[in-house]
Amino acid sequence: MARDGAASDYVSGDFYKELALTAEAGKLHAIFLAEQITNQENGVERPCGTLDTATTLALMAGVTTKLGLIGTASTTYNEPYELARRFATLDHLSNGRAGWNSIATQNPTVAEQFSRFEHPNHEDRYARADEFIEVVIRLWDSWEQGALVGDKTKGLFGRADLVHDINYRGRYFQVRGPLPFPRTPQGRPVIFQAGSSPLGRDQAARFADCVFTAQHLLEDAIEFRSDMRRRAVAYGRNPDQIKILPGMSVILGDTEEAAWTRKKRLEEVLGFGPNLAKLARRVGIPLEALSDLDKPFPVQHVVPEHAFKGSIGFRRSILNLAVKENLTVRELSLRYGGGHQEVVGTPEQVADIMQARWDAGGADGFTLMIDMLPSGLHDAVTLLVPELQRRGLFHLDYQHANLREALGLNPPESLVRKTVERTVRTAAG
Ligand SMILES: Cc1cc2nc3c(=O)[nH]c(=O)nc-3n(C[C@H](O)[C@H](O)[C@H](O)COP(=O)(O)O)c2cc1C
Repeated sequence: MARDGAASDYVSGDFYKELALTAEAGKLHAIFLAEQITNQENGVERPCGTLDTATTLALMAGVTTKLGLIGTASTTYNEPYELARRFATLDHLSNGRAGWNSIATQNPTVAEQFSRFEHPNHEDRYARADEFIEVVIRLWDSWEQGALVGDKTKGLFGRADLVHDINYRGRYFQVRGPLPFPRTPQGRPVIFQAGSSPLGRDQAARFADCVFTAQHLLEDAIEFRSDMRRRAVAYGRNPDQIKILPGMSVILGDTEEAAWTRKKRLEEVLGFGPNLAKLARRVGIPLEALSDLDKPFPVQHVVPEHAFKGSIGFRRSILNLAVKENLTVRELSLRYGGGHQEVVGTPEQVADIMQARWDAGGADGFTLMIDMLPSGLHDAVTLLVPELQRRGLFHLDYQHANLREALGLNPPESLVRKTVERTVRTAAG
């Protein structure tokens, strides 16, 4: 059995290399890193943010050849030119394996690190994020395929006529473009989006290739996926080209008893109090309202949605679970999985739940939330992956050229359109 990591592992390069190698040996499609810009996101009881995602993924790229590398990065506290450059760099260096998970930072304390007096409200964050993503996409498209010629005999480095300014003028951003280097190996990095409020859904339907979401209940997962597909069609898109990948917190054991022993150990490590405090923040309720642990979860005391500052997607999913299953405070605290559907059991039991979601139209795939690293990742690749492979639900080996292909996504339309336009122009002489 693989070890449980030391607390300091989350700042260790060797640790990230180990994770990348384990994931690739297990044929996982990608590693997905969350972002916590400040210490305060987990509360003072656990002062722990994340390393910069793109930098960490670049290290992982160096020890792997097939594994996708997806990093979360904020649209609230970045500049689009800078972020487009960073993730395009990662796509070049990894030979077409980069993905960007676009989020609109929910934690108000981040504002204090960016010379801002006030954290923008939910609507403003999404308005900025819409523009942000649009600018990033235009920058990623600013070099046409074939713009880099590199013909030393003719002394022709590149074709300036295939490199375009974007001249973006919006409410939040004014960016001239283009990017300082050619289009990336997979046309452009894959865009993920996380945020499942109505504004988040709309944004994902416009721009995202993949959606990372939290849905505890099967009926919510089905509703979410069909709503996203409908919204994508309303934007003129092919609904099969937006992949819905809900999070699933898996706690595995080779027997049911072993899985529950691991769950109990995790509860001890996390501590009941901090976990309850996180639940209170996730749904927007004063901690004092949760003092009666064995009473039904008091949904009547959550702040109204319009006054809630965090992720509405997470909140709705957790509250629906509490109401539908009539859970007490204690039960919800032990079952909400830190935000995602939690499944404790043997590989067969976990695979059954995945398969049921898949068959019912609630998911195109899953974002596994690993309980403890690196042992949980080791369990996922040695226990769960073989079970999914036995059922024919998971590939036996990598067969794709880049992350886009691995996820069943077509090349970006802008690339196809430009190539067709140029072929027509050339054919017409
Ligand atoms: C599944 C999921 C994952 C998220 N991951 C992150 C993250 O890694 N870092 C972060 O700052 N915010 C994260 N967020 C929250 C985003 O900041 C999100 O854009 C914002 O809170 C709005 O969410 P909403 O549309 O659900 O209200 C996540 C949200 C969801 C639903």
